[in-house]
Amino acid sequence: MQLPHLIAYLNGQFAPLDQLQISVLDRGFLFGDGVYEMIPVYDRFIFRLDEHLARLEHNLAELRIPNPYGLAQWREIIGALVAQQSFADQSVYVQVSRGPAYPRNHAFPAIVTPTVFMFADVLDPPASDLVQQGVSAITTNDIRWLRCNIKAISLLANVLAKQQAADAGVAETILLRDGLLIEGAASNIFIVKNGVIYAPAPSPLMLTGITYDLLIELARHNGLPLQLGEVTEAMLRQADEVWLTSSSKEILAIVLLDGQAVGNGQVGPIYKKMLGFYQEFKTAVMRRGLE
Ligand SMILES: Cc1ncc(COP(=O)(O)O)c(C=O)c1O
Repeated sequence: MQLPHLIAYLNGQFAPLDQLQISVLDRGFLFGDGVYEMIPVYDRFIFRLDEHLARLEHNLAELRIPNPYGLAQWREIIGALVAQQSFADQSVYVQVSRGPAYPRNHAFPAIVTPTVFMFADVLDPPASDLVQQGVSAITTNDIRWLRCNIKAISLLANVLAKQQAADAGVAETILLRDGLLIEGAASNIFIVKNGVIYAPAPSPLMLTGITYDLLIELARHNGLPLQLGEVTEAMLRQADEVWLTSSSKEILAIVLLDGQAVGNGQVGPIYKKMLGFYQEFKTAVMRRGLE
């Protein structure tokens, strides 16, 4: 495997990505026992780092993995990682696993040192034709566990759902559980009906995205009607607009769902408004580190 020249971080050490190695006994490798974050960086300004670190801290606590660093130390290390890359727009991947332990046992080992791994890659925003014209998606049953609010590295059901999208040649798979819209395989989902934006309220069944929170703030700040609560599959199928959001995909309209046009099959007016607010915010705030 040919790796690009990226500076990465492992347990206190910065080095090129292809020079770092972990133990085969690491519980992240054996059990998927760990959590992660993906943090976007614009012009070397790390967007909402404290919110990402708060989510990381919360997720570690949920899994009873001790947080290896304090807030200031996290900020310092991630800042150093960003400073060492040769490109300005980055996507920083942060992973903490419970660490290596022997013998292999499902239950937690008595003493273990978490493994901290990070690398920064080039932030690759969606192509402008996708942003302007929208994307296609499919739906499937959500077969994940009941604690999807934890951003765990054990992502097998998400991987299978995302592969369903890849096999179908579409951008995303939307997950439905018990007749309700939950989220995408790697995104949150919003719908619009009669001018009102709807999204599932945060719950243990979905990951509350940092971009989801930002969209809610932008909608409220700009006076767009918004309701958080249960969104049924019927509401999804009859929506005028459907959007997906994530740190890497930002905001994209879904114009074709399971082969059916969403609304009139074109990106909708509320999406265009929200995209404008998002892009304005990105230029005025994210790219200048003004938060
Ligand atoms: C399952 C899932 N939901 C939602 C999101 C969106 O989260 P964020 O906006 O923090 O990127 C992601 C991001 O990867 C995800 O994997």
